[in-house]
Amino acid sequence: MARDIHVLGFSGSLRKGSYNTRLLHIAKDMLPQGMTLEIFDLSPIPLYNEDVRQQGYPPAVAEFRRKIREADALLIACPEYNYSVTGVLKNAIDWASRVELHEPPGSPSPLYGKPLGIIGVGSRYGTVRAQLELHQIAVAVNMFPLNKPEVYISNLPTSAFDEQGNLINEDSRKFLRQHLEALYDWTLRLYPQPQPATVETQEARQPATAGRG
Ligand SMILES: Cc1cc2nc3c(=O)[nH]c(=O)nc-3n(C[C@H](O)[C@H](O)[C@H](O)COP(=O)(O)O)c2cc1C
Repeated sequence: MARDIHVLGFSGSLRKGSYNTRLLHIAKDMLPQGMTLEIFDLSPIPLYNEDVRQQGYPPAVAEFRRKIREADALLIACPEYNYSVTGVLKNAIDWASRVELHEPPGSPSPLYGKPLGIIGVGSRYGTVRAQLELHQIAVAVNMFPLNKPEVYISNLPTSAFDEQGNLINEDSRKFLRQHLEALYDWTLRLYPQPQPATVETQEARQPATAGRG
């Protein structure tokens, strides 16, 4: 029998009325059987500073990293600012991409090997450019993003949402549901068995390599 999976979701927008955060909450109401989704608020994550990291991860960052390690998969709601991912999102990923202080460079970060779902709401092209950049970032940190079905929702010229924040566009609802189902299947295909919170990979046991750590 297929196992249950736990997904950690976060949004690259901090504003209260964020469509992207809203999309995560809508996703929570249409999860496939066997999937749970916890939404993590990135607001308390400070700006990345290596000097600060050397003193120990700040509490909000440590909690974020722990929750990522404990999750079977991640779901990122990715807004688009100036054709790219938001600084908020990139900053959070940068914190999560680093190894533990007591571990040698090249050890797996919390993000290493995580299955990843990407969804987003933006203006005319519905975050398609930012999502491609997020795929590129996923290469750097060795997350495994789901490619299809894509969920990029435009809130122009007429919004896919009603005034109460309900997702009323039927196609958008369908793609979101299909994305969640595909993320479930993708996670089980990659990891039929639950992974320990710290995945020790062969690469982790090898000497540090340039560009990682
Ligand atoms: C600084 C800034 C830059 C933006 N650049 C883009 C962009 O390049 N492409 C786009 O689709 N929307 C862009 N937008 C519009 C946002 O995608 C839109 O406001 C969206 O609703 C933000 O996500 P949120 O509702 O989750 O906060 C930009 C918004 C801001 C504030």
